[in-house]
Amino acid sequence: MMDHEPLLKLHLSAGYPERPQALRDVQLEVRRGEVLGLVGQSGCGKSTLALAILKLLHLKRGWAKGTILWRGQDLMPLRERAMRRLRGREMALVLQSPMSALNPALRIGTQLEEAWKLHQHGSRAACEEALMETLEQVSLPAERPFLRRYPAQLSVGQAQRVLIGMAVLHRPPLLIADEPTSALDIVTQAEVLQLFSMLSRRLGMGILYISHDLLSVAAISQRVAVIDQGRIVECRATEELFTHPAQEYTRKLIAALPVAPRFEVRARQVA
Ligand SMILES: Nc1ncnc2c1ncn2[C@@H]1O[C@H](COP(=O)(O)OP(=O)(O)OP(=O)(O)O)[C@@H](O)[C@H]1O
Ligand SMILES: [Mg+2]
Repeated sequence: MMDHEPLLKLHLSAGYPERPQALRDVQLEVRRGEVLGLVGQSGCGKSTLALAILKLLHLKRGWAKGTILWRGQDLMPLRERAMRRLRGREMALVLQSPMSALNPALRIGTQLEEAWKLHQHGSRAACEEALMETLEQVSLPAERPFLRRYPAQLSVGQAQRVLIGMAVLHRPPLLIADEPTSALDIVTQAEVLQLFSMLSRRLGMGILYISHDLLSVAAISQRVAVIDQGRIVECRATEELFTHPAQEYTRKLIAALPVAPRFEVRARQVA
């Protein structure tokens, strides 16, 4: 792969049977190591896009057509088997409700172990080392008693950290986070937001950060794409988007904000 080539470059249309088309000619690229925010109102097609990128739309009886260039290779023709090798290792997904994504009957350690074994064949010790390192990275207690807990013994914020840990276990170059903080209280939201920013910085991970909340998107993204009714309205550097929104729709979103945005946690910490 050439260095200047984006990680992901897509051009997609998608939808569901007997429904108005959910995505119309959406063109987007995610560059290596950047946080790209995707913001838009409920029902505009954000989750559809996330699932389409991972070629999981069939699970919701949806369809997609176009191209998904992953490091220059089109994923569209790939079969499910090939996609399984990619998911989790090359690109991972974090969803909105952590509690429903975890299996309530299995210990945290078991679930993380299973996720690790999907793409690794090392010894038990190697697995444990990877799990401990991951727990540390997502600011959870890196100790055995924690791994022995069941999901019901975690707070929702801890459960979300476990899922984020699961997503970064194989150091995927791309993380797709679909409303990862909406089930959390406001303080935990801010902490998880910081965590994404830190992971992107430390692991050099590209993140597609999806949210209806323009303020949280502004806080961690270098660029923001605005989506309305299945179309990308504009996609610009974050600060530029706020100071010089080109489109009426973006202006409306900004005007509706209760307070002024704080730009990029990342840039502020570096400066
Ligand atoms: N399984 C499905 N079957 C039929 N239509 C669906 C399905 N899932 C989503 N849709 C429709 O596709 C459109 C886009 O939905 P999508 O879930 O992608 O929106 P979203 O931007 O993620 O919304 P939210 O912010 O509420 O999560 C909506 O009109 C929705 O009703
Ligand atoms: Mg959604």
